[in-house]
Amino acid sequence: SNSSNVREGILVGCGNPLLDISATVPMHFLERYGMKEDDAILAEERHMPIYRELAEDYQAEYLAGGSVQNSLRIAQWIIGQPNVAVFFGCVGKDKFADILREKARAAGVDAHYQVSEDTPTGTCAVLITGTHRSLCANLAAANKFTIDHLEEPENRHRIENALYYYISGFFLTVNPPSIMRVAATAHAKQRPFLMNLSAPFISQYFMTPLLDVMPYVDIIFGNEAEAHAFATAQGWPADNDLREIGKRLVALNKLNTGRPRIAILTQGCDPVLLIQHDSVQEFPVTRLTVDEIVDTNGAGDAFVGGFLSQFVQGKSLDVCIRCGNYAAGHIIKNPGCTYSGSPEFVE
Ligand code: AP5
Ligand code: NA
Repeated sequence: SNSSNVREGILVGCGNPLLDISATVPMHFLERYGMKEDDAILAEERHMPIYRELAEDYQAEYLAGGSVQNSLRIAQWIIGQPNVAVFFGCVGKDKFADILREKARAAGVDAHYQVSEDTPTGTCAVLITGTHRSLCANLAAANKFTIDHLEEPENRHRIENALYYYISGFFLTVNPPSIMRVAATAHAKQRPFLMNLSAPFISQYFMTPLLDVMPYVDIIFGNEAEAHAFATAQGWPADNDLREIGKRLVALNKLNTGRPRIAILTQGCDPVLLIQHDSVQEFPVTRLTVDEIVDTNGAGDAFVGGFLSQFVQGKSLDVCIRCGNYAAGHIIKNPGCTYSGSPEFVE
C-alpha cells in the first residue's frame, strides 16, 4: 500500500472552510456582476444573488472547497493514513457545515471547526466560462473565526504537538492575530511555517498583515499572477521577471536567519521555480493533452497538498515539488479539487 509512517497531528493548517458552488455560466453572467473571467474576489453585497442563481438556473455542483482544506485533503490522500493533518476554521450550524465535516472526515483530515451560531457556512462561487474560472468567496461564518478557538486547551495542545504549519494568504482577511500566534509558536519551536500568496487581491489590499507575518515565513508559495501582484504592491521594478521577484521574496526580512526563506512559484504548465538564496531551480511539468484536462480548478491547492505530503515526511525539496506536480496533474483530470482512485506518486 501507499501508506507511510508519519505520526498523527504533525501538520496544522488554518483557513476558510468553504463549500464551492460550481457552474458553467455565460459571459454576460460575469459582466452583470462586474467580474473578470480569471479572478478571485471576496463577495460584496451586490454579489449575494449569485449563489441562489447558480443553484436555481445553472445546475450548480457542490464541492468541498476552501484553499487550505483542499491542500490538506490532497496531502491526506497521498499520505494514506488518517489524521496527519489538523485543520482549524469557522463554519455555521447548517447542512453545508455537515457536508464539509463529512468530506474532511472521508479524506482523513482532522477538522476542528469553530461554530458560529448565527452565520451560515461560507461558500465560494466557481463561475466557469470555457477554460477560465472566476471565484467569488462569500466567507460568512469563515469570517467569524477568532483566536479564542486556538486558545481552547485541546487546540493549544494540537498546535504545540504539530511540527509543520500551513496558512493561506486568504486567511489574512479573517484573523491576522491567529496567524501571528501560530507563526510565533512555529518560530519559538524552530518549526517550519509555510504560507501562500493565495490571490492578487491579498497583496493589493492586505499587504500590511502580509508583511507583518513575512519574517516568520520559511516557505512562500504563489503563482505568476500572485507574485506579480506582490511585486507591484511593493513597488519593485515593473519589468521584473518571476525569477527576480522570487529572489526578492526570499531576501525580505526574516527572523530565523539560520533557515533562509524559500519561494516556490508555479506557472501553469511551465516549470515550477524553486528559489533559495541566489539560486533558481526549475522543475518541469508534464503537459496534459486537451482531452485529459477536466478543469484546472484547485491545481495550485493540490500542488501545495502534494508538496506537504512529502515535506512532513522529511523528504527533500526535490521530491516535495515533484509530488506537488503529480498531485496538481491528478486533480486537473478530475472536477474541482477532487481526486479519484489511489495515489500513484513514485519518488
Ligand atoms: P483555484 O484558484 O481554482 O485553485 P488553485 O488551487 O489556486 O488553482 P489554479 O488553477 O488557480 O492554479 P494556480 O494558478 O494557483 O497554479 P498554476 O496554474 O500555476 O481555487 C480553488 C479554491 O479556492 C476553491 O476551492 C475555493 O473554495 C478557494 N477559495 C477561493 N477564495 C477563497 C478565500 N477567500 N479563502 C479560502 N479559499 C478560497 O498550477 C499549479 C500546478 O498545476 C503547476 O505547477 C502544474 O503542476 C499544474 N498545472 C497547471 N496547469 C497545468 C497544465 N495545463 N498541464 C499540466 N499541469 C498543469
Ligand atoms: Na491559485
